[in-house]
Amino acid sequence: MATAPAFVPVQPRRTRDWAPAWRGFFGERLRNTIYGWPEPAFDVPIRTRKVLGFTIHIVTDPAALQRVMLDNKANYERPDIVRRILMPSLGNGLFSAEGEDWRKQRRIVAPTFAPGAVAAMAGLMDAAAQREIDGWPQQTTRLDFAVAATRTTMAIIADALFGGDSRLTHPAAARHIETMLAAAGQVRLTTMLGLQNIDPSLTMRRARASRAWLHATLAALVRERGAGGGADDFFGGLIRALNAQFPAEEAAALAVDNAITFYVAGHETTANALAWTAYCLAAQPELQEICRTEALATLALPASERAGAMPVLQQVFEESLRLYPPAPRWDREALAGDELAGVRITKGDIVSIWPWVIHRHRALWREPDRFDHTRFAPEAKAKLHRFQYLPFGGGPRVCVGMRFATVEALLILARWLAARRLVLPAGWQPDPAASVTLRQRVWMILREEML
Ligand code: HEM
Repeated sequence: MATAPAFVPVQPRRTRDWAPAWRGFFGERLRNTIYGWPEPAFDVPIRTRKVLGFTIHIVTDPAALQRVMLDNKANYERPDIVRRILMPSLGNGLFSAEGEDWRKQRRIVAPTFAPGAVAAMAGLMDAAAQREIDGWPQQTTRLDFAVAATRTTMAIIADALFGGDSRLTHPAAARHIETMLAAAGQVRLTTMLGLQNIDPSLTMRRARASRAWLHATLAALVRERGAGGGADDFFGGLIRALNAQFPAEEAAALAVDNAITFYVAGHETTANALAWTAYCLAAQPELQEICRTEALATLALPASERAGAMPVLQQVFEESLRLYPPAPRWDREALAGDELAGVRITKGDIVSIWPWVIHRHRALWREPDRFDHTRFAPEAKAKLHRFQYLPFGGGPRVCVGMRFATVEALLILARWLAARRLVLPAGWQPDPAASVTLRQRVWMILREEML
């Protein structure tokens, strides 16, 4: 049987060498953080740059990454500058908190994301995926898959964590979140310059209004629930636990911060991952057929057992996360001196962790730009360094929703594949762009054909 030709999925333009750091604050590089990376970045274990007075080490060496995120984790916190950027949206919720505040909050939410608890939510995830498909036209059609994915993951997060509150699935909510993410590069720049109270562009003024909308919406939800938490769901449990462990005013503020954190972090990244996986499958019809056969065979199983019964689809999902990590970058700040990959780190230095670069690094992956899901077949996967593949981060601050996201994504993909064939419109390619998360500049447009 003839093998399918190698598929090298689309990526933004790279340059031959490093550009001056200031170029990152203008034009395409400001809007799109994965644009214009230099080829040498994909060869070296660490590279140090000075940006607006900050010393930033871009680390790609897995052993050094393990030191930052696990072995010497106490020395590396979310940078003060990042906390200042996040504070207006996420406050002191789980994503931005440090120290004892972080530990308490993590302990409160962890049980909701344990394997058994996620399995219990599989039914509602599958039902949301089916509802989305029921709304698709019967005939062959073009559909914006990024939008379809967002609609589905928003419905799931609302149903799973917030008692299905319809304010969280309103189309306006997706628009506000998109507006906030679009301004992320500019917000970063003004905050680094100490000008965070100034909105020099329309994009930033719109983003401020959207942040206010999001905050007001989730604050209303918290108020309506009261200190007793209302219903017996994640949100209610969170409110009750926060009130038991923090003074009332702080508990109320943390409830809003975490509601925003879980609402946004809980659907946006997964929607991203789904759209990119759909693109990778649409570009490889033979692989899509294999995954479809696998998906169809699981439909008779209870939803809670289905995700674990699609090994090839799982590998495809993992490989798509390697090539298109929905969280392409995050940072840490050194609290004291250290050494990483032979380079001296000084107190206050920023360590920049870029899955976008690590996942395509030539010292870590054979033919890194090529799609090859067999990298994640059990034997090959066992040989990977734990810190060379970081779609969900690593160490104690690993994504708390990792299992939730994986089960949800596999269930949704299974429904998509079972219902339709995914085909790329002739001559069309997506245009990957990243602000906080990895989105498509041109929405994913796929043609579907009824089976
Ligand atoms: C494919 C989907 C997802 C991806 C790729 C992803 C990625 C990540 C990454 C890389 C981090 C760590 C960032 C760092 O160390 O600075 C993180 C943290 C986090 N994620 Fe996710 N995530 C996904 C889905 C979810 C879901 C479904 C939820 C909730 C339902 C969630 C909630 C969170 C929270 C609350 C944190 C902060 C954890 C902490 O600091 O203790 N994520 N995520």
